[in-house]
Amino acid sequence: MLHQTDLAVNGAGHLTVGGVDTLALAREYGTPLYVLDEDMVRSRMRVYVRAVKAYMPRGSRPLYASKALCCKALCRMAREEGMGLDVVSAGELYTALAAGVPAGDICFHGNAKTAEELRYAIASGIGYIAVDGEEELERIDVLAAVAGARQRILLRVTPGIDPHTFAAVNTGVVDVKFGVPIPTGQALAFTERALGMEHVALAGFHCHIGSQIFDAGPFRLAVDVMMGFLDRVRERTGYTASVLNLGGGFAVAYEEKETAPDCGEMIRQAAERLAERCGQYGYPPPAVMLEPGRDIVGAAGVTLYTVQNVKSVPDGRCYVAVDGGMGDNPRYALYGTRHTALIADRAGETPDTTAALAGRCCESGDLIGENVPLHSPRQGDTVAVLVTGAYNYSMASNYNRVPRPPIVALKDGKPRLIVRRETVEDVAALDL
Ligand code: LLP
Repeated sequence: MLHQTDLAVNGAGHLTVGGVDTLALAREYGTPLYVLDEDMVRSRMRVYVRAVKAYMPRGSRPLYASKALCCKALCRMAREEGMGLDVVSAGELYTALAAGVPAGDICFHGNAKTAEELRYAIASGIGYIAVDGEEELERIDVLAAVAGARQRILLRVTPGIDPHTFAAVNTGVVDVKFGVPIPTGQALAFTERALGMEHVALAGFHCHIGSQIFDAGPFRLAVDVMMGFLDRVRERTGYTASVLNLGGGFAVAYEEKETAPDCGEMIRQAAERLAERCGQYGYPPPAVMLEPGRDIVGAAGVTLYTVQNVKSVPDGRCYVAVDGGMGDNPRYALYGTRHTALIADRAGETPDTTAALAGRCCESGDLIGENVPLHSPRQGDTVAVLVTGAYNYSMASNYNRVPRPPIVALKDGKPRLIVRRETVEDVAALDL
């Protein structure tokens, strides 16, 4: 059930998002077009801010994982709604700072940060760097010394939890490229190393167990493993962590048959488990950070396309080819994920066919979905693909030198361009 999206059908039979006619948007801004319900984004942000404040220990805070959708407008929304920011590159950090997010509210992640990026982050006065391994730790110690700073850090550790999501986003198990494993004993040695360094200030630990997590179970388990680890660290070194960052991963519903989880309840249950473990170990409750990305923007996004061709292969499939595809939404090509789509011109009609929704790129694998139920698709129709707010624009490419679509945000029933459409000149602008 895609219950969060403010979708409706108006008198003309057209799909509306946040009360705005999608056909009018397609006409005004052209297609492909990313539409983002800003009211909904802000309300998701508030849900996290409130739940963390209500249930988690004092000083806790949600950070928006900007990798899900990063542009200045989104960074501003996060700041205005009281969230910090998680960034993973100089590009995301630059965008956040340019949008006026205070550096102190930002946490910098990544398993392969360059010296240049680390220098930039330290010079900006970034709140936290989540350190992914010992070499990076040494590098930060040296760079902070040069900058005359003492850099606040978190150590990224892997708790060895499998939340049963798909492999590309499964980050909590031990044999992954992220973090230093707890179960192998390496995380403890990593911590001892950090504590001996002069130019880093260890604030606590970070873990991220995966994406598209539908219930509180994996988060409760993460709290168990992390608090067990924190207790062991304290026993061995006398160090008490003041921050515990549990990462993101809150699921959204991509299809009608799925139900979006209640993230407030997941947070409540994780907080309850944290209080239990802190009580058991006599550990002062650390401030908790969470890093939701997908659940902030995912369901608020709809992509509009125009049908260019409809082709039926006798005894084969019907292909509905649109003016976008894997260049603006590579998720099906990458992960085989499913998105719900509909013909926006006749949004109230029951689908009467299923089709392969094909993109415009020169490869057969460029599909947005297969077996997609649609109502009588024909050339010129507007196709709306739902729940595309997360990891669409942020993973878009210029494959085939196709310019990337703009983003229009809808607030109080009014559209506002927050990212303009790329032009072919933009695409060729870096060529020498
Ligand atoms: N924090 C860290 C350290 C992460 O690695 C991630 C996601 C998040 C937070 C946010 O997770 P979320 O709440 O959005 O699930 N491109 C893939 C998703 C990759 C997620 C990578 N890390 C997709 O399209 O499904």
